Amino acid sequence: MVHLLAAIVMNQYPIIPAPVTLIQQPGHFTFNDQTVLVAGSGLKKASAMARTYLPIHDGSATKNAVVLKIDKSLNLNDEGYRLIIDEDTVEIQGKSEAGVFYGLQSLRQLMPAEAWKGAKSFEVPSVLIEDQPRFKWRGAMLDCGRNFMPKEFIKKFIDTLALNKMNSFHWHLTEDQGWRLEIKKYPKLTEVGSKRAKTMLQYSPAKYDETPYGGFYTQEDAKEIVKYAADRFVNVVPEIEMPGHSQAAVASYPELGNTGQQLEVATTWGVIKHVYNPEEKTIAFLKDVLDEVMAIFPSKFIHIGGDECPKDEWKASPRVQQLIKERGLKDEHEMQSWFVKQIDTYLASKGRRLIGWDEILEGGLAPGATVMSWRGEAGGIQAANSGHDVVMASTNALYFDYYQADPKTEPHAIGGNLPLRKVYDFDIVPAAIPAEKQHHILGGQFQIWTEYIRTPDYVEYMAFPRGLAAAEMFWSPRSKRNFRDFIDRARVQLPKMNINARPLDANLGLPTAEWKAGQVSNAYQTKTWNITSAIAGAGNYSILFQYTSGAFRLDIDGIEILVDGKVVATDAHFGRTGNEHVDNVWKVKLPAVQSGSKVEIRAKVRGDGGGDSNGDIVVSKG
Ligand code: ACM
Repeated sequence: MVHLLAAIVMNQYPIIPAPVTLIQQPGHFTFNDQTVLVAGSGLKKASAMARTYLPIHDGSATKNAVVLKIDKSLNLNDEGYRLIIDEDTVEIQGKSEAGVFYGLQSLRQLMPAEAWKGAKSFEVPSVLIEDQPRFKWRGAMLDCGRNFMPKEFIKKFIDTLALNKMNSFHWHLTEDQGWRLEIKKYPKLTEVGSKRAKTMLQYSPAKYDETPYGGFYTQEDAKEIVKYAADRFVNVVPEIEMPGHSQAAVASYPELGNTGQQLEVATTWGVIKHVYNPEEKTIAFLKDVLDEVMAIFPSKFIHIGGDECPKDEWKASPRVQQLIKERGLKDEHEMQSWFVKQIDTYLASKGRRLIGWDEILEGGLAPGATVMSWRGEAGGIQAANSGHDVVMASTNALYFDYYQADPKTEPHAIGGNLPLRKVYDFDIVPAAIPAEKQHHILGGQFQIWTEYIRTPDYVEYMAFPRGLAAAEMFWSPRSKRNFRDFIDRARVQLPKMNINARPLDANLGLPTAEWKAGQVSNAYQTKTWNITSAIAGAGNYSILFQYTSGAFRLDIDGIEILVDGKVVATDAHFGRTGNEHVDNVWKVKLPAVQSGSKVEIRAKVRGDGGGDSNGDIVVSKG
């Protein structure tokens, strides 16, 4: 009984992300048809949102009132707030208008589900909350290049971000497979570049939907999104990719490419070798494009991609080789760096800042550049330690196109293994960045790459609940993060949110064991991993080896299970991991194991090509 009561009390305050300080108070405030909104000055946007969330009308009463005010003297950072609920009033004090907005989000999360559906009378529990974000950049990236997402869905996605106190929407607008933003000076970018002949459904063996596919946002659409987001204190960071991931642009204007060939908009996924040429006139084209982009998007940061630009065409082109010589550059990497520096200087001259994926470090980082670290954390560490700002977006925990459970039970995805617990336990401050450089970590964001994510419903399924774990990682102090408590809060909030989140089932776990780069090599070696934690009695077990990142897949030439060093079961079949995995689940029948015994997997493994391979070993009963 005592236990049950404790659980009920805890769930009275199911706020995500977990607040810095929350002091429970006895009693509650009751909303009814007399409750008024009393908003101080400078709160036009926040009070407009309050009127949409709450059954409330403007007034001036001092009781039965929701009072919003800015208090610049609060000892909190810019987005901090206090939420004080007692029997008479709900008071939200924000350090800024954004702070007031975040206080309102906490209030919404304290409201019961009926209130979200329009109930006019309901209670919220009394409380004192003082709260502020750990990081300034709390974001999500949505790839609308591979698959176009309707404008109304983008708004709904932004609503969900804002509710969870996220403030950055990184909009990936151009890709090899589609250019999605109207550019008035270059109409073919959308007339030609927004359409492709077919869509890849599966990489290997290749399978296509043969229906022609297209879609783009007009500049009016984009402005509407920017305003919608700004009303919710979300900044929209547009991404215009260069010099790679640009086949749709080169298909629209072949003179931007390296071969003069008329290309089609790409229809396969992957890293594609058709890229922009580094001519002055291509830089001029991109400056024109960015002029129109900057007129739509007030964001200080403009994302220019910079990732995955193969140098094949530049190596093969006599003209590019001549330009490398003329510009006094060493090689193609320095040419990419030259390219990015032209754009960095241009954006800086307009009062903006360049941000790009971590490949922009190669060949020398442009002076004003901010790095988005995606290939693990190395790029972020290098950039922060050399004095550049960083946004952490690592494949290790923030690539939500990865599977969130055993692929057998999930819709087709690109690969990987990123269950909720693994996201939750991550932290975006790598140990290798010393304290005095950590201020360079602006924050983090999760990514939804949409190769196989074709619909809004599927975006939501991949984004949530993992996006809630990310929101808490970006906002809450480490000391307030607790997985079990988070799950309890998510169970209360998710049903209110009207999204197609993946259910919070039992399958949320961390991998049982992992292999990491450097622990294997190109030659077969015998390795053992402790899996005792996953063993729950005698019976059948399946063991999944799942590649997650690195240059090479892992090959596994049979496994054995050892109990206290003695072989008790064997599955000798050969299997391989990776995106084209083959037979990568091993099955064994285990006897009862005495408590205190150590259970291990022993396997002959090799990285197919070298030691740079990482992955998870997931042991499950059945
Ligand atoms: C990326 O995933 N290519 C940034």
